[in-house]
Amino acid sequence: MNTEFQIFPDAASTAAGQVDALYLFLVVLSVVLSAFVAGLITYLAIHYRRANKVNREYVDHGNTIEFVAMAISFPILMGIFLWGAKVCFFLFRAPEHAMPITVVAKQWMWKFQHADGRREIDTLHIPTGQPVKLTMVSQDVIHSFFVPAFRTKQDVLPGRYTSTWFEATEPGEYRLYCAEYCGTNHSRMIGKVIVQSPDDFARWMSGDAASDEPPAETGRKLFEQYQCGTCHRPANEEGARGPTLEGLFQSRVPLAGGQTVAADETYIRESILRPAQKQVAGYQQIMPTYEGQISEEGVMHLIAYIKTLGAPAATSSPAAAAAGGQPAAPAAEPTAPATQDNAANDSEGTTP
Ligand code: CUA
Repeated sequence: MNTEFQIFPDAASTAAGQVDALYLFLVVLSVVLSAFVAGLITYLAIHYRRANKVNREYVDHGNTIEFVAMAISFPILMGIFLWGAKVCFFLFRAPEHAMPITVVAKQWMWKFQHADGRREIDTLHIPTGQPVKLTMVSQDVIHSFFVPAFRTKQDVLPGRYTSTWFEATEPGEYRLYCAEYCGTNHSRMIGKVIVQSPDDFARWMSGDAASDEPPAETGRKLFEQYQCGTCHRPANEEGARGPTLEGLFQSRVPLAGGQTVAADETYIRESILRPAQKQVAGYQQIMPTYEGQISEEGVMHLIAYIKTLGAPAATSSPAAAAAGGQPAAPAAEPTAPATQDNAANDSEGTTP
């Protein structure tokens, strides 16, 4: 990374070029329009100066000028709108195969966890040429994840998941900032993103800290520790007092009030912490609240585990695929731990 003063930050992601092009266009357009207005002011000031004998008769309006101004500005403004929308869609739609990383922000640090379990604080390693999707939540106040070199900035909220994605193009070290004032050490809530070539990244991933437990595995243990499986079992099984979690993720859940809700990360999180908020149709509200008992990271681990419990059955919820546009298979969970967990879950399901 270049440490000397830069007017423009490094451009190190697939989004950077698109954002910069739009930004430069807007800057150039502003300069041209400002110059035009300044020129008009100068010309009119001189032309209508007091000494000049010119026609000062009141003019109501001029159709020609007005129509010409509209004919020129309308396509330009619509162009900016469409161009901006295109870039916006690009920035907010993560590719399906993006590598999942979870982020927990707190005063005043960034905690990252990779899909294989590897944890990092204030430093994030990622490979080039691989889209990365961050699922983020805050443990306290609002923070904002900002990597100027990637042209990416997303608020990180308490109580709700937000996500962002990027694909780095250039190996190097890039500054990570918190871009939302979050207390005394807000200005020190900085870190770095270390972008490596795929080979270097693979080497780093297999390095000595690789013993960190995969999130889904930690989640499975939490699931057992809190004995969630006592109630959450397939509907036909005895003791199934809670809805089954198999195939829950990305399905549509019918609620007691008659509505349905998409079972995304935010819904599952809310249902763990405040189960009474959205009561599932056909079940009594007997689940205790886990608010304050499970940490944000613990909730993320539980969700990672629940995601491994199979995809929504295509026959039971065709609406989910149609409405959400989501694929039937959960996108990018780690394959090895997933199989492990499924096996563990199966055996758990068969034991009385
Ligand atoms: Cu976190 Cu500012």
